[in-house]
This record gives sequence, C-alpha cells and structure tokens, in this order.
Amino acid sequence: MQKKVSLTGIKPTGTPHFGNYFGAIKPALELADRYQARYFIADYHALNTVKNAQEMSDHTYEIAATWLACGLDPEKCLIYRQSDVPETFELSTFLMAFTAKGFMNRAHAYKAKSTDNLAAEKDVDAGVNMGLYTYPVLMAADILLYDTDIVPVGRDQKQHVEITADIAQCINHAYDQEVLRIPEPIISESVGLIPGMDGRKMSKSYNNTIPLFLPPKKLRKLIMKIVTNSQEVEEVKEPEGCNVFGLYKLFATEAQQDILAAKYRAGGMGWGHAKQDLYEAIEAVISPMRDRYDAFIQDKDYLDKVLLDGADRAREIARNTMGRARKAAGFRH
Ligand code: TRP
Repeated sequence: MQKKVSLTGIKPTGTPHFGNYFGAIKPALELADRYQARYFIADYHALNTVKNAQEMSDHTYEIAATWLACGLDPEKCLIYRQSDVPETFELSTFLMAFTAKGFMNRAHAYKAKSTDNLAAEKDVDAGVNMGLYTYPVLMAADILLYDTDIVPVGRDQKQHVEITADIAQCINHAYDQEVLRIPEPIISESVGLIPGMDGRKMSKSYNNTIPLFLPPKKLRKLIMKIVTNSQEVEEVKEPEGCNVFGLYKLFATEAQQDILAAKYRAGGMGWGHAKQDLYEAIEAVISPMRDRYDAFIQDKDYLDKVLLDGADRAREIARNTMGRARKAAGFRH
C-alpha cells in the first residue's frame, strides 16, 4: 500500500533554535519512516515580514542546512523551496474563488493583528498587507497541491489546516468529485514544553532562544547565563520545574537524569555545576550534527542542487493536482 503523505512547511524567518528542533524538526523527521514525507521552505510566507534579500537568502540556506544536518535524507523524502513551485500560486488563486472572506477575518494571524489595532485605537487594518490577510489560502495551496494526508503543526497552526480542509471540501462538493485530498492536522504535544533561557517557552518572540548550532564556546557561555533561582551552593535543590534540568532532560539519558537529580537533592551542587553538566549533555548530542551543518552551510551549490532537485520532483506532483483542478473547472488541462 502507498504510504500516506505528510507535509511540513518551515518559514525562513529566523535562525533555528532548540525549541524548533524538539518542537518541530525532530518530530517531523521521525514521520519520514511511516509517511511519504515532504518538507518545504515557505519563503513566500516569510515575504510578508522579511523584505531584505540577504536575510531571506541566508535564512533559507540555514534552514536547508539545518534539516539536512538533523537527518533529512533528500533521497528518501522531498525538500524544496515554495518559490520554486509556481503551481502553488496558481492553485492559491483558484482557491480564492472558494474561500469565504469571513474565514480570513477569523483566521488567527489576521485576527490577532486587527484585535491589537483596535485595542490601540488604530485603524483595524493598520500594518496588514494582503499577504497576511490571505495567509491561510496560500497555506492551503501548499498543502492541497501535494495530496497531503497529514500536516504536523503546533497548536497555533491547527486552525489554518482546518480552513484548508474546509476550502477543499467546498471545491469537491462544487464539482461533485474528489478534486483535492482532505488533510488533517496532527498536533505535536511536546510543542511549548521546551524552556527558554528565562524558563518561559523558548520562542523567538520572547528573545530567550538558544540557537541550535552555536560554536561550542558561545554555546557554553549562553548556557551559563540561563536564569536560575538564587539558592546557594550548599542548599538542596529541586530538579522539577528548574529550567536547567528541564533542558537537561531533552538531551540526557534516563540514567544521567537520575544522577543529576540526585546531585540536586544532595545539596552542595552549585548552578554552575548543573549548567556544565547540561552543556556536556548538549554537546554530546549536537556536535555531530553541528559538524554536518558547518559543512553544508559552506556548500551553497550543494544546497541549491538539493532544493532544485526537490522542486523538480515537487512540480511533477503539483502539475498533476493543478491538472485535476483545471479540468474540474472547465479550463484547458
Ligand atoms: N504557517 C506555518 C508557520 O507559520 C508555515 C507554513 C506555511 C506551513 N505553509 C505551510 C506549515 C503548510 C504546514 C503546511 O509555521
């Protein structure tokens, strides 16, 4: 039996950090065993906010190199840039005719912005471009173009996948046939549990991230700055709820976790010591990936080749889907 299709979109808007790795990259890569996994860099989504060519290009390569370094096998799955697949924009226009405007008013990215505007007594649409307003339609095109069955997303993106399913159902209903496959969101539960430097959820918007592939010295320096309470060395400490321990759990084996927990509870362990243990546990996991990352990021020609190869294969699938839609609508196909 054909494996089902999973699709992951990654916006090139920042340097990948530990929160991205555990919340999105690792779970999405694990799907590659059970699904036909497709990954793409959502650069047209990033365009709504990133209007600097160098920044767009740097982040795009960083993301490609990161996913390859973390184990994405381009022979086994697809990876491509959204902007290399023009069918995306054709399908997006097609979908517009079946998308209720009210959906867009309620979609959470726009809603958050317009609610903030009203609260600040500004015009409801201040700072809103049409890209932001119609964001869910472009995302629906990304998903529907590839006959996607499941979309692994964080909670914040669930509504977008539901809107996608609604639009597809509307089209299938209009033409009384399965023009487009109906996707389902899969919510990754670990998302949100990765503590940042200050103990809040690690997130670019809180400015509390630890970049995934910092050079070892910089990584150690940053880890030493993780916020802890002000308990003295000799005091007994509680591992549960401590951000240093919370991060340690992500990298260390169970046996290592038991050992560090015992040191916390015995007293006589300073925060510098716990952070050193954390640094070593992180290094053991990250350093082989960082070596691969450093090699990939130096080799833009290779990254371009992988992404263009991916786009060629993606376009074959995309043309097929677009053909079905064009035929259903009575266009030349
Ligand atoms: N909106 C997603 C985000 O902000 C990125 C994205 C764009 C996406 N298109 C997608 C995710 C399609 C999954 C499927 O993270």
